[in-house]
Amino acid sequence: MTRRSVSNIKRLLVAGGCGFIGSRFVRSMLERAEWRVINLDKLTYAGNLENLKGIVEGDHYRFVRGDIGDRTFVDELYDKERPTAVVNFAAESHVDRSILDPAPFFETNTIGVQVLLEGARKHGVERFLQVSTDEVYGDVEKMEPCDEEHRLAPSSPYAASKASADHLTLSYKRTYGLPVLIVRSCNNYGPYQFPEKLIPFMIGNVMRGEDLPLYGDGMQRREWIFVEDCVDAICRVLERGEDGEIYNISTEDEHTNLAVIDLLCKLMADEASMNVASLRNRIQFIGDRPGHDRRYATRAKKIREKLTWNPLVTFEVGLRKTIRWYLTNHEWVESVTSGAYRDYYDAVYVRSWG
Ligand code: NAD
Ligand code: TYD
Repeated sequence: MTRRSVSNIKRLLVAGGCGFIGSRFVRSMLERAEWRVINLDKLTYAGNLENLKGIVEGDHYRFVRGDIGDRTFVDELYDKERPTAVVNFAAESHVDRSILDPAPFFETNTIGVQVLLEGARKHGVERFLQVSTDEVYGDVEKMEPCDEEHRLAPSSPYAASKASADHLTLSYKRTYGLPVLIVRSCNNYGPYQFPEKLIPFMIGNVMRGEDLPLYGDGMQRREWIFVEDCVDAICRVLERGEDGEIYNISTEDEHTNLAVIDLLCKLMADEASMNVASLRNRIQFIGDRPGHDRRYATRAKKIREKLTWNPLVTFEVGLRKTIRWYLTNHEWVESVTSGAYRDYYDAVYVRSWG
């Protein structure tokens, strides 16, 4: 690839670029010659420099460790780097943790976003893209799939903190004219996802010979998207999205949690030469997550029609790729699941919500 001269490149501040989706996004943006990426990440338990292995700092990439909620630090960073665009992935992202301790969710997901927005306003950023979630629409068990105008009715502290950020982002558009964009994605899966989320968590339990704990009756429904498809959508919105618009990102392909784990057992049996019936026998129905949403479902008509985006990876193909990645990357899993992760595991699964 030919690189442009430094004076021609646009400067992109990515917050949370060491997490699961953010690291995939950083890689994609660095494949484009015209961007310098500044990756601001606090490196919480979910952020890992290993996720960006092979990327070297230089004219096109810089990593900065810091907290998006730290006003002085963020202001100095805007001053120094003068970003043209900002994409914010930084968040506390796990619903179960938000139930155990909501405070950090509001510190990062709400206040942190206000700090980033304020810096963007002050420093004349040309595009601010907030990465949001379908969870802001809340439980849509008995409703039509949501389009972007659907009312927000978050159920968990996590979803409430993300919905607050969406409101803040739109308020900066209306009040100050800041050029903003919002994407609301369904559930992602793929390599480098922290193994507390359903799919990598269950892969790990299969590999360690442990039970497969499903909350409640396992009939909750989610739409699933392979991370590369989601990142492709985010890149399109950043580059061609219309100022002030919200875009749902979704495969519109719903599965119950039980169906996901059933397929996961089948594919793991295939990939690791295990017996599928004995894997399925390890499914256990345990106490339900408090406030558990039965169903998320969104329409992605706008992004498909306006930005000619379509997801390319079917659920079965993506799940198989994900399983293969986890089967060959034990060291990564070992390195991210430290002692602190065991405390969390005990609080949810051993003591059942403390
Ligand atoms: P993740 O938990 O894997 O990564 C979050 C990243 O943010 C980590 O690198 C972490 O170190 C960093 N971070 C956390 N607090 C920070 C702070 N105060 N300052 C700077 N950095 C901080 O999350 P993910 O799954 O990659 O999700 C990325 C974004 O996408 C989040 O905003 C999440 O709400 C949203 N989202 C995720 C999904 C999903 O299925 N994973 C679906 C829809 C939306
Ligand atoms: P999760 O990956 O935490 O994503 P979210 O809550 O943001 O959708 O969970 C996906 C679904 O799987 C959700 O309905 C909760 C359920 N779940 C279980 O049944 N057991 C588990 O051990 C986990 C982690 C999740």
